[in-house]
Parts: sequence; structure tokens; C-alpha cells
Amino acid sequence: MAVDLLLGLQWGDEGKGKIVDVLTSNYDIIARFQGGPNAGHTLVFNDKKYVLHTIPSGIFHNDKINLIGNGVVIDPVILNKEIENIKKENVDISKTLFISRKAHLILPTHRLLDAASEKSKGKNKIGSTLKGIGPTYMDKTGRNGFRVGDLESKNWKTKYYDLSKKHQQLIDFYNVELDFSLEDLESEFFEAIEKLKKINFVDSENLLFESQDKNKSILAEGAQGSLLDIDFGTYPYVTSSNTTAAGACTGLGISPNSINDVFGIFKAYTTRVGSGPFPTELFDDYGKTMSKVGNEFGATTGRPRRCGWLDLVALKYACRINGVTKLMMMKTDVLSGFDKILVCTKYKYRGETIENLPYNLSEESLEPVYEEFEGWSEDLRELKSADNLPKSLNKYIDFLESELNIPIVIVSVGPDRKETLFR
Ligand code: GDP
Ligand code: IMO
Ligand code: MG
Repeated sequence: MAVDLLLGLQWGDEGKGKIVDVLTSNYDIIARFQGGPNAGHTLVFNDKKYVLHTIPSGIFHNDKINLIGNGVVIDPVILNKEIENIKKENVDISKTLFISRKAHLILPTHRLLDAASEKSKGKNKIGSTLKGIGPTYMDKTGRNGFRVGDLESKNWKTKYYDLSKKHQQLIDFYNVELDFSLEDLESEFFEAIEKLKKINFVDSENLLFESQDKNKSILAEGAQGSLLDIDFGTYPYVTSSNTTAAGACTGLGISPNSINDVFGIFKAYTTRVGSGPFPTELFDDYGKTMSKVGNEFGATTGRPRRCGWLDLVALKYACRINGVTKLMMMKTDVLSGFDKILVCTKYKYRGETIENLPYNLSEESLEPVYEEFEGWSEDLRELKSADNLPKSLNKYIDFLESELNIPIVIVSVGPDRKETLFR
């Protein structure tokens, strides 16, 4: 029983990168199971900040294996930039970074297709990060995709051009204006491919089978959040992969019965970047304070994140879908100084009170019902132990634990590795 999962329970950016980095010392292998460079996972240590998009967040621990699993989609250009950036910390990836041969590649034309699709949707756009995620997963499930392992065959460029030509026809079909030079994009792509080929390609499911046989411990790192899951999220305003626990099985080749703990991570409030329903969204000063104090800007696109109160109806749903065994509450420090804290415990919907997520969260008749809690004024970032949390924060935590029936084992009180309180 050597695999634990860590995944986001909201709409992403819960602080997964920070916690994976904090927990890495307990594991032998850190493995990303889905998503691609739409993710931005932020790590802060020694007064420096790093944002990882494709590389697992255990990479700064030099003695650990970091695996990019088959469920991930890789843009070689972005991956190379990440590698260049982490070299500042003297990270030697030659022995620690592995890529699944079965992971799919994001081609330049996938990015263009993403842009064309979004532009054609007008006001109804998904708010995609425009990294080519949707079109790449479409080619994967349509059985047309280009995999990392294809680069080991001599005629990979023929395969590339065949697929790219097809994409160009589709782009023409959208009939929207895009400003790009495919020639420039391709030259940077081919250059990046040559560097990518120097990284260790593996049949990652075998690497993980063998590691489990040797009793090595594995932490699977999710990207995005449960409400962005292609099946269980707020469709169609979702990403194109299974961000939930099942995605770790298909994205790495681990079996359900090898999973031990499922760490569910959530902010003490809620944020969302991109379009789509968000019942507890705030447009008042409370929301503005969350945005300002929490520095709520996307780590990948820099877009402002929408902010709102914690939505317990949605959080319960996410805990059930994932089988969460332990919870971690992030950005608790951001709420210091609030005179009150609200939590949505039910919705009013079509004249009734409901405690489940309805099929369509964007219906206008859906209204959150809140419980109110007393705030606290202490600066939590100074705290060294969870024993000293303010009384009213403990009440908030106790309430969440009893409603969710899952222990909150970490309270995060700042972006730095060190600002992490264990309970
Ligand atoms: P991820 O995508 O889930 O890894 O999260 P992001 O890195 O996109 O967003 C989380 C942001 O919050 C980053 O800027 C982190 O540095 C920051 N962060 C993480 N935990 C805390 C915390 O407890 N308090 C504060 N103030 N910031 C945090
Ligand atoms: P991490 O791993 C927050 C959102 C986008 C958009 C929708 C679809 O950092 O938590 P896509 O590019 O996947 O087609 O975009 O999903 N989105 C994220 N929001 N955090 C992320 O990743 C996200 N990855 C995608 O904003 O609404
Ligand atoms: Mg992020």
C-alpha cells in the first residue's frame, strides 16, 4: 500500500504545489498524473519563488524521482523553460526526472486550435489557459495523438506534419482571425523536441510496478481541481482531463487498491479563474480583500482569480468523489482580520433547500445559504504550532471537520514551505 494521492477539491490553485513540496521528504517518487501546462504550481522556499507547470513539485529534493505520467500532456517548449529555470537551484534532472512514453505532446497547432475554438465561442468561451489542452486530449481520445514515445521512431516528423496539416484544416474551418506565425512556432517546437529527447523516457507504469514491489512510496500529484474535472466538474466550464482520484489510476497505471491516503486540499475560501458558475462568488469588499491579501492572480496566465466564501456543498461533493481521507486547509492567513466568515452549507434552488450540487450550477435560481462565524485578528504567519490557533479559527475548523467528517491535518498560514502547521 504505497501510493498516496494529493489533489485539489475546488477550482484549482488550492496550493497543491506548496504541499507536495512540503510532503516530498516522506516519499521516494512524486508523480504527476494529468493536466499539462495549464497548471501553475507555486513553491516558495529560501525567499525564492518557483512556478512549475509540467514538472512534479518534488523536483527540488535532489534524491527523489519525479515522474511525468502518461495522463499528462506536455508542451516541450514550456517544459524546457521550466528546466532552464530550476537549474538556478542546481537541480540535476538527469537522474531524477522521468517522462512516460505514453504521455501526449501538445503541438503548436493544438495551441492554435485552442485559440480558434475559444474565439469562435465569443461570450460563451471556457476561459481556457490557451495552452492547447483541450485539442490535445481530443486527439488522444480520438486516437490521433502524438505521444512522447513516437519521438523514438525515425519517421516521427511525417507523423507530426500529417497531424499538423489536419489541424490547419480545422483552424480554417473555425474561420476566425488569429495572429501567429506557424513557422516561428514550429522552429521553437523542433528545437525544444531535441532537448526533450535527452530526458529519460520510460514505460512509467512498469517503473511504478517495480517501485511498488520494492516497497517504495509514491505521492501522486494532481493538477487543476475537482470542480474542473471533465466528468464531475461544472461542465462545459472544465478542463479536459479527470482531475479526481480516478485520474491517478488512469494517468499513472496504479490500481485502485494500491491507494492509501487521499489528501484533499482546499482554500479557507474559494477562488476560480476563467468562466463558469461560482455560487458563492463575492463582488463586495470581502471578495476584494481576499483577492488583494491572497494575491489571487493565476500562476500560469496572470489573470485575476474570482473570489468567494467557502462552499461546503461543493466541498462535500468533492470529498465523496475522491474518497478524501485527510484534508489540508490553505491560505488561512488570508482571512485574518475579517470581522465575520461565511460558509455556504446549502443552496436555495427552485423554491427548495438542497444540499447536493444540482445538474446545472449556473441556474439563476440557485442561491447559497450561509452560516456565519466569528473572525480572528491574529497574524497567523507568525505561528509555529497549530496548538496556538485563535479560538474562533478553531471553531471554524471544528465545524468543517464535523460537517465533512474528515480530519484537517494541515493548516497552511503562508506561501513559504515553513508556514505549514500540522495537526
Ligand atoms: P496550485 O496550482 O494548487 O499549486 O496553487 P497555485 O500555486 O496556483 O496558487 C496558490 C497560491 O497561493 C500561490 O501563490 C502560493 O504561493 C500561495 N499559497 C499557498 N499556500 C498559501 C497560504 O497558506 N497562505 C498564503 N497567503 N498563500 C499561500
Ligand atoms: P492548477 O493545477 C486554475 C481553468 C481555466 C479554464 C478551464 C479550462 O494550477 O490548479 P484549460 O486551459 O484547461 O482548457 O482551461 O480550467 N484551469 C485552471 N484554473 N488552476 C489550474 O491549474 C487550471 N488549469 C485550468 O482557467 O477556466
Ligand atoms: Mg495553480
